Amino acid sequence: MTKPKANIGVVGMAVMGSNLARNLAHHGYVVAIHNRTHAKTEKVLADHGHEGTFIGSESIQDFVNSIDRPRSIILMVKAGASTDATIAELLPHLNEGDIIMDGGNSNFRDTIRREAEISAKGFHFVGTGISGGEYGALTGPAIMPGGTPESYKTLGPMLEAISAHVGDEPCCTWIGPNGAGHFVKMIHNGIEYADMQVIGETFELLRAAGLSVAEAAETFRKWNEGELSSYLIEITAEMLAQADPQTGAPLVDVIKDRAGMKGTGTWTVQTALELGVPVNGIAESVFARALSSHDDLRTAASVLTGPDRVLEVADRESFIEDVRQALWASKVVAYSQGFDEIRTGGEEFGWNISVADAAKIWRDGCIIRAKLLEDIRQEYSADPQLVSLMAAPSIAPKLGEYNAAWRRVVVAAAQAGIAAPVFASSLAYYDMARAPRNNAAVTQGLRDFFGSHTYERIDTPGHYHLEWSGDRSETKISED
Ligand code: ATR
Repeated sequence: MTKPKANIGVVGMAVMGSNLARNLAHHGYVVAIHNRTHAKTEKVLADHGHEGTFIGSESIQDFVNSIDRPRSIILMVKAGASTDATIAELLPHLNEGDIIMDGGNSNFRDTIRREAEISAKGFHFVGTGISGGEYGALTGPAIMPGGTPESYKTLGPMLEAISAHVGDEPCCTWIGPNGAGHFVKMIHNGIEYADMQVIGETFELLRAAGLSVAEAAETFRKWNEGELSSYLIEITAEMLAQADPQTGAPLVDVIKDRAGMKGTGTWTVQTALELGVPVNGIAESVFARALSSHDDLRTAASVLTGPDRVLEVADRESFIEDVRQALWASKVVAYSQGFDEIRTGGEEFGWNISVADAAKIWRDGCIIRAKLLEDIRQEYSADPQLVSLMAAPSIAPKLGEYNAAWRRVVVAAAQAGIAAPVFASSLAYYDMARAPRNNAAVTQGLRDFFGSHTYERIDTPGHYHLEWSGDRSETKISED
């Protein structure tokens, strides 16, 4: 009797890869597995072989041969050169129509390049964002596949089956061609940076107002029952309530105040700069992490004087409510900026991304899953061309309602010497965007002064230049 062939293969048996392979097996798929270092494949078979049907192979050739054609092969290896190396190893063994899916955190520009190279050889390449951490990979992540619609016909049902679900709606949908899936995942991570930074700022404000760590934990726990309900708020409450196993002090107080990062936040900001999309909250979050780890700068700056980060709060309960409202408003602005980048990038790269779909599949499984995402999905479904989430019918009035509290919190933070860059920059973005006239006329006037860059007038069309170093006469340079 011939051995059954696998429905799908997974290369890379580190934590994410092995959990994804197990998730597939739990859903009844026969899963071929392979890892560069064979011991990891053997360990998965030994520890989890009983959970489903796995076919482990030591050689890449045996691995490929063990999969049913047209083959679907998921790469879960380190992003970057390792992904290219693994693809190069696989290609000679594939047949026309086979699909390679890259489920790592690859840069979407690498995905565009790889898709072009691989599709030219007659194979499909599907760059796919996967979010949910190791637990999500095992139990149901949010999945953001790019690539061809044709490859989604084969891969889609399997990915949808293993993804998280809201009711019977899978947190997985085809995002768009080539790099679209990794692009959307990149922005998911950028938003995640802002979400976490604004939670950190909130915690610092609550502590400065006299709340103990336990009281702050309880505050987040209560907030999680309301409109702020989200995975990150939920685990903040849990993390803050955790005692240090060594000293018994709150664990958060013994964790070094240095935040690491792996690059997707930086890419989100770099790409936003190239697209000309302001993502202030995400950028501040990336910078905040960078500054936190900049030891020499922090040591040098420790001589600087200012208020001592204590908030004199007359009514603690009303201050806590102010902070809650400011948190909601700042978070919504950061999301608005991220969705703006998705919309703009989708247009720029010709992907035709549905922003509503991105919000839909982030409602569960991923790290930024939140109640708010259902509202966002509804807004973008009702108006796919929505320019700014801030201005959406269900969001704008609430931002107005929370305005006073938001401003009080930003003022209180500034006066007490507490850095709250996401709270403050989100408010600045909000004010700059809503102003009928902003300060850019000064910049443009100066640009014309020193560089003859011309200016437009408010009263007539055209570009104009003033003879700044001459008789100060005005010349019309162009009609439009
Ligand atoms: P984690 O941080 O979860 O360990 P990772 O470092 O992103 O994951 O990815 C590690 C996976 O990529 C491993 O399966 C690793 O194979 P080994 O177990 O043999 O180290 C795989 N990997 C890394 N570089 C690789 C390469 N050049 N070729 C093939 N696989 C590679």
